[in-house]
Amino acid sequence: MATTATLTLEGKPYELPVMTGTEGEKAIDVRQLRKESGYVCYDQGYGNTGSCESQITYLDGDNGILRHRGYPIEQLAEQSEFVETAYLIIYGDLPNPKERRDFGDLMRQHAAIDTQMLRIFEGFPREAPPMGMLTSIVSSMAAYYPSLATNNFESDLANFDLTAAMAISKIRTIVAGVYRYRHGMPFNYPKDIPFCDNFLHLMFSEPYKDYVTIPEVSRALNLILLLHADHEQNCSTSTVRMVGSSGANLFTSLAAGICALSGPLHGGANTAVMQMLQTIHDEGDDGTRFIESAKSGDKNHRLMGFGHAVYRNYDPRARIIGHACDVVLNKLGIVDPLLDIAKKLEEAALKDEYFLSRKLYPNVDFYSGIIMRALGIPTELFTTMFAIGRSPGWIANWKEVASQPKGRIYRPRQLYTGPVKRDYVPMARRH
Ligand code: SDX
Repeated sequence: MATTATLTLEGKPYELPVMTGTEGEKAIDVRQLRKESGYVCYDQGYGNTGSCESQITYLDGDNGILRHRGYPIEQLAEQSEFVETAYLIIYGDLPNPKERRDFGDLMRQHAAIDTQMLRIFEGFPREAPPMGMLTSIVSSMAAYYPSLATNNFESDLANFDLTAAMAISKIRTIVAGVYRYRHGMPFNYPKDIPFCDNFLHLMFSEPYKDYVTIPEVSRALNLILLLHADHEQNCSTSTVRMVGSSGANLFTSLAAGICALSGPLHGGANTAVMQMLQTIHDEGDDGTRFIESAKSGDKNHRLMGFGHAVYRNYDPRARIIGHACDVVLNKLGIVDPLLDIAKKLEEAALKDEYFLSRKLYPNVDFYSGIIMRALGIPTELFTTMFAIGRSPGWIANWKEVASQPKGRIYRPRQLYTGPVKRDYVPMARRH
């Protein structure tokens, strides 16, 4: 098994160590390359660069494999629930009954937000983007809970269990608060009920009538959040690690991750998929016309919910959610024409050379919006739902960065292609 790679630069050989991951993936360790040769590696967008060693999630994009701490996503989707999977991702093992009970209790005890934080909502226009509101209010948690956000890894890690449970629980509560605020409705207070049931209560209970969760809805919401819980070094998770590497506390690092997730190429895609399906429906198209326009290469006419920076095969989460769509909508007696359009688009794309040759398959966002809409969650909140789901993954990655004994701040290099040295020209001599 190769333990070194030889790189010859200007006739001089450099021996670079080869690292091997648990699943046999190989990496060339170039940490000494610049010091020894003056060369840096160039990898725009880091698509071929390992920024860290991590023990949380394994992704095999060619074979459509996703595992959290070794457990296949298919088994977790079938047998686990969001809070249990969150515990697994954060702490590395499935919880025993006491650990699961204590974790849930901690989240329920800290589900409410400081009443002063409600003033931050008031500072936003009613139609403010939900992800913008979520970022700001999550960021404010560092100010409201300063003892948990000291920007000192040792003290912040000493309170990690409480901070992690608070973060997941309050992000859930804040998302529901954003919905209530945007619709001019009074805020609800959390109850002593399971995580997803509490979310639905916080969202939909009215002063005159409590929301009653039916098991199918609670199970579907658990599945959606569980499937978003972590996904290796995606854009938002890498952002959390980057910000955390500066010593920033967990709340601040999570706010940065929420910013990264808000982009349409990342977490914003589930909203874009629904807007795409609705447009196709409103134009009386069955998807045939749209598929042709999606092949133009125009970034503004992409088949949203298709393609992935890592998967060159079916995103296993998309397969699970696609199946769950039928089950959930049938159980709820919902007929959604957008689901039929989505299926037609998928069927057409999976037979089309343009998509097959580029290995473009449905990703997690292609069907997730249809289930969330069936649960009564408005499209405007879809990306914030992704943030709730991804919070355990972000937290686990922040903890890996904070726990590194010799943690280094993330500081990539570049290839400078700007002007060479030139002298200042006084204004009088400029034309
Ligand atoms: C998520 O990283 C993660 O793990 C992310 C995520 C997670 O859980 O954190 O999985 C969540 O972000 C899923 C992805 C959600 N985004 C979308 O669904 C938006 C639509 N998809 C794309 O824009 C695109 O596929 C990306 C951004 C997801 C991936 O882009 P890449 O890998 O950089 O691919 P690319 O832009 O280089 O495209 C390669 C080719 C191009 O054509 P050519 O230039 O070769 O002719 O494929 C084409 C692209 O034009 N292409 C598409 C397409 N996606 C890529 N063409 C039509 N429709 C698409 N969706």
